[in-house]
Amino acid sequence: MQGTVNFMKILKKIRSGRSKRVKKEMSDNMLSASILNVRQLELHSKIAELKDVIDYIHIDVMDGIFVSNKTPGIDMFKNAKRFETKPLDVHLMVEEPERELSNYDGASIITFHIETIIDTKTMTVNMEKFERIAAEIRGFGAKVGIAIKPNTTENLLRSILRKVDLILVMTVEPGYGGQALIPSTLDKIENVKKMGFTGIIEVDGGITKENAKDVKERGASLIVVGTGLFEDEDPLEAGKIIKE
Ligand code: DX5
Ligand code: ZN
Repeated sequence: MQGTVNFMKILKKIRSGRSKRVKKEMSDNMLSASILNVRQLELHSKIAELKDVIDYIHIDVMDGIFVSNKTPGIDMFKNAKRFETKPLDVHLMVEEPERELSNYDGASIITFHIETIIDTKTMTVNMEKFERIAAEIRGFGAKVGIAIKPNTTENLLRSILRKVDLILVMTVEPGYGGQALIPSTLDKIENVKKMGFTGIIEVDGGITKENAKDVKERGASLIVVGTGLFEDEDPLEAGKIIKE
């Protein structure tokens, strides 16, 4: 009898631990630190300073084609994977995501752009291409994210709404850190919700301690911040305000 009671106690413990983890993972107030403009040599100390406020490390991969800028995405990823303990959130701003995916095995989230899977004849999502990419990402055990640029209509998301874990709404034109948030892009967050999307809404570009509250109130659950965090005179305090 005592054995059964103990077993039940242990089971309860395991279950509550698991539900806490799921809750944490699905919390609607998460911060992903964009390390685009952080010097690699300083990365470890900067992340350590912010360990209590950041949930993910956001890695921007740019190929010089989809966006004019280029980043050493693979090196940034390898470094972060080797030396950091936070889960990695990879944002692929590349023309051919399929070519690059295998470099990012080990990430928790891999996001690619919807503009790269649009069939230019029909102006609809190439579902075959989407399914191939999504399956490979899932094969790594990562969440599947789809990103959308400011001038792309969110209607294109409808056909894949139930097939992705995360939608990344770009609030600046992708390519560079340190730009100002384009206010009209915030409507996209609400529109995606109205379409019935229940997954994670990530928002990226120009977010600061001043506008984070507004962005979250619109429905964002995962906020990417680069300049507004690392360039603040007190990054930890800025992180705390953003997470409030
Ligand atoms: C822009 C990148 C963003 C950017 C965010 O193309 O996708 O992740 O680094 O940086 P801030 O917060 O400086 O806009
Ligand atoms: Zn990004």
